[in-house]
Amino acid sequence: PASAVVAPGGDIAVAGVSLAELAERYGTPAYVLDEDEVRARARAWRRALPDAEVVYAAKAFLCRAVVDWVEEEGLGLDVCSAGELELAATRGFPADRIVLHGNAKSPQDLRTALRLGVGRIVVDSACEIARIAAQVPGPDPQRVLVRVLPGIEAGAHAKVRTGAEGQKFGLSIADGDAADAVARILGQSPLELAGLHCHLGSQITDAEPYAEAVRRVVAFLADIRDRHGVTLPELDLGGGFAVAYLPGDPAPAPGVYARSITEALAEACARYGLPLPRLTVEPGRSIMAQAGIALYRVLAVKRTGGRVFVAVDGGMSDNPRPALYGARYTVRRVGRASAAPMRTATVVGRHCEAGDVLAEAVELPEDIRAGDVLAVPASGAYQVSMASGYNMTGRPPVIAVSAGRSRLLIRRETFEDLRQRDVGL
Ligand code: LLP
Repeated sequence: PASAVVAPGGDIAVAGVSLAELAERYGTPAYVLDEDEVRARARAWRRALPDAEVVYAAKAFLCRAVVDWVEEEGLGLDVCSAGELELAATRGFPADRIVLHGNAKSPQDLRTALRLGVGRIVVDSACEIARIAAQVPGPDPQRVLVRVLPGIEAGAHAKVRTGAEGQKFGLSIADGDAADAVARILGQSPLELAGLHCHLGSQITDAEPYAEAVRRVVAFLADIRDRHGVTLPELDLGGGFAVAYLPGDPAPAPGVYARSITEALAEACARYGLPLPRLTVEPGRSIMAQAGIALYRVLAVKRTGGRVFVAVDGGMSDNPRPALYGARYTVRRVGRASAAPMRTATVVGRHCEAGDVLAEAVELPEDIRAGDVLAVPASGAYQVSMASGYNMTGRPPVIAVSAGRSRLLIRRETFEDLRQRDVGL
């Protein structure tokens, strides 16, 4: 985070709070979240697109405090399960600012969304249209968006390229599936077609794919107008904006994406004689990743096969990203300075597989030893939210820091938590 300050003794302070002290007080592994950084990044998105709705993608990380921060900063919330919806509801998050996603919405997801009255439900397949329509509770129509598949390859890894043909999300423009869904929704009076949605992928490091998506989706908006005589008012471009995990990684500021999107939109709308739709974006990672730091304690150091392995007390159960996407991170020792030279090491987790590697080829002091604390920056997104129960190690706590103070947001999962769910004998 921007507030991180490295002290001469080797400690790092974030928002005025010592990471070494946090590791001592809350134990490790632990995740630290800089509240002001989250808020600043949320505001940066709102400033970059003042006329748009900025909707935070809850899947990056959600807890009750984050629901409040997002609400207070004037953002909406993108959710994809009844669980995320219920959590938002516990804080009274305004339902009209919630967007429900999902390629396979469960009966419970839909029931919860319709009961709370979410602002938009994003239709991802033709077969859910009648299902949603049949459940709309009151006389007011439920607003929906159609998730279209623009056929664009973008994103850091094949597993997160959701805008390309041939993967599970959205309705293809090219195949005519999107047009069929639009026609079907327009014939359902309990539904109001508010616009189109597309999400290209994640960790997209340049703005051009967004501009191309705008051109393709606006052409489709014009198609809909020509065919049905309706002008849809909203265009939701999803998220996917990149952050830097390693120094020098390309990570354009919100304004760079915003400029490219608004220019492409103005141009495409002028070409087809369409009014400018209201824009929505759904950043997740770019609001949360840089605000989070993972803290681990070294449990073992081993030299073998010409490599140095530094094994820590967490791993793929709190951060599956390296194993899933080949994600890279930097690692720093905190709380102990020494004159030892740096050497290349591999930071591995404690789990029972060789693929449990947190960071390949990082530079750590040669005198690294058991008991040292390591910090992994850029850990705020898709780590805690994707944490698993592998090896029953218990999921880590999340600690918020702000203005020199820390507070626990999520406590550590204990053996007692795990045992309580084990109800049969
Ligand atoms: N909107 C929709 C419909 C999405 O599916 C996603 C992410 C977002 C917005 C937010 O994308 P973001 O701005 O955070 O990139 N677990 C992967 C990322 C999966 C993203 C899934 N959808 C990772 O750790 O890289």
